[in-house]
Amino acid sequence: MRLIASATLLALAAMAACPASAQDVTAGERSWNKCRACHQLGEGAKNLVGPQLNGLFGRHTGSVEGYSYSTANKNANITWDEAVFADYIKDPRAKIPGTKMVFAGIKNEKEIADLTAFLKQFDKDGKKM
Ligand code: HEC
Repeated sequence: MRLIASATLLALAAMAACPASAQDVTAGERSWNKCRACHQLGEGAKNLVGPQLNGLFGRHTGSVEGYSYSTANKNANITWDEAVFADYIKDPRAKIPGTKMVFAGIKNEKEIADLTAFLKQFDKDGKKM
């Protein structure tokens, strides 16, 4: 009996320490709702008001074919990685002055981490990795 109790405690401790809780994909999907009016993700994603965001991390700014970027975004000359994205999404117009993305930004670090985890699931063809 005591053994079962301690095993349960161990399992609970393991769950609490689980790194998945640091970046929460489900919470990230909720955050993604803020982007959906303008961006698509997944297989067959199309450019809407903004470019599709498949395989964003590792992608170069302004590189989606068939999307008409602003000169500012096209010439920003950055490769999207976690740090750059976090900086950008806090205040897009500060990171890329002249961008035509009209978005106030997300200030909460946890929300940015969750959103990053959500976006990272999609490879360049929109398939979940
Ligand atoms: C009101 C519409 C709108 C919303 C909401 C919006 N975006 Fe954008 N986004 C745009 C537009 C338009 C561009 C193209 C900017 C340009 O060309 O200057 C863009 C560009 C981007 C880029 C650069 C893409 C590239 O290929 O260089 C990223 C990354 C991005 N948005 C992420 C997001 C995320 C993540 C969210 C939600 C948290 C979001 N956007 C919300 C309209 C929007």
